[in-house]
Amino acid sequence: MLDGRVFSGVQPTGNLHLGNYLGAIKNWVGLQKDHETIYCIVDLHAITVPQEPTSLSTATHEVAACLIASGIDVNNSILFNQSQVPQHAELAWLFNCVARLGWLNRMTQFKEKAGKNRENATVGLYAYPTLMAADILAYKATYVPVGEDQKQHLELTRDIAIAFNSMFGENFFPIPDPIIQKTAARIMSLRDGTSKMSKSSASDFTRINLNDDDDLIAQKIKKAKTDSEPLPDNVRELEERPEARNLVGIYAALTNQTEGDVVSEFSGEGFGKFKPMLAECLINTISPIRNEMNIILSDTVELDRFLAEGSKRAQSIAEPVLAACKSVMGFVQSSN
Ligand code: TYM
Repeated sequence: MLDGRVFSGVQPTGNLHLGNYLGAIKNWVGLQKDHETIYCIVDLHAITVPQEPTSLSTATHEVAACLIASGIDVNNSILFNQSQVPQHAELAWLFNCVARLGWLNRMTQFKEKAGKNRENATVGLYAYPTLMAADILAYKATYVPVGEDQKQHLELTRDIAIAFNSMFGENFFPIPDPIIQKTAARIMSLRDGTSKMSKSSASDFTRINLNDDDDLIAQKIKKAKTDSEPLPDNVRELEERPEARNLVGIYAALTNQTEGDVVSEFSGEGFGKFKPMLAECLINTISPIRNEMNIILSDTVELDRFLAEGSKRAQSIAEPVLAACKSVMGFVQSSN
């Protein structure tokens, strides 16, 4: 077991998609081998935008099942949902009193999600990154595997840890490092290579969901936007071709190769040849996950038991961290 603790989270807002899988979850699975790993379904983050109660519980189950089906081992990793561990919300409040407005005002995700109707965004959406800092620091985690879009939130977490340490005790919190994949840091929409693949995009044809059936996956790849040029023999020439570059990146991540390896394999070929190969790779990766996910979802009582067990294990780590944090801040606490 290597030193350091890994923590990461995913929101239960709809189904997981290929961006979540290649950008984060595949990495989460690999890290279990030689690290202590804690993975959280961040349901408190999900309610920063309006959620239907029944959709929230369904999505929590689906995400949990999907993570287990993707290879998260609940006997090894701690897997739980955030709202069952109250220390996250309490530590987030303490961090709200450490983080500065100026830091939060810079967050691009808030600007994107709040859009033009900023006055109507929830306070929770604005304070979202302090809760994320609490998620990570409640476990004194040192490594945080995420996609590139979370980099700025991680920087804010680091700023909060540094500020807390300088106010209340040197080295109280470790300063966590992001772990960002090289090939799949940012998977883009299948319809627009300049915008991120995301759950919130209105068209389902912009993304591959981990519960899409094989025919739908093939259809989505067939309809994915490309250009009429053949694939070049070097990655540099893909720079001005965002859709082509995205598909090459997806193929590379699925087959554990570099983008350079992929362009050498397909150099001179058109998308007529490349797309069916890509669809086949996707189906080979996704269909076993989807099938396993459906089996797991047929017993939500067992799934809830896993999450309750994970929450207990998580709480046993977070509770003393929060107590120590309150103690250095000067709160009077009972000793039992
Ligand atoms: P979320 O739920 O949006 O996404 C979960 C993970 O998937 C990654 N990801 C992507 N990676 C590559 N390409 C994409 N198109 C793509 N879309 C999503 C995300 O970067 C993320 O790693 N704020 C976080 C959840 C969170 C968290 C945390 C993460 C809450 N607390 C503490 C780490 C540590 C989020 O909304 O992720």
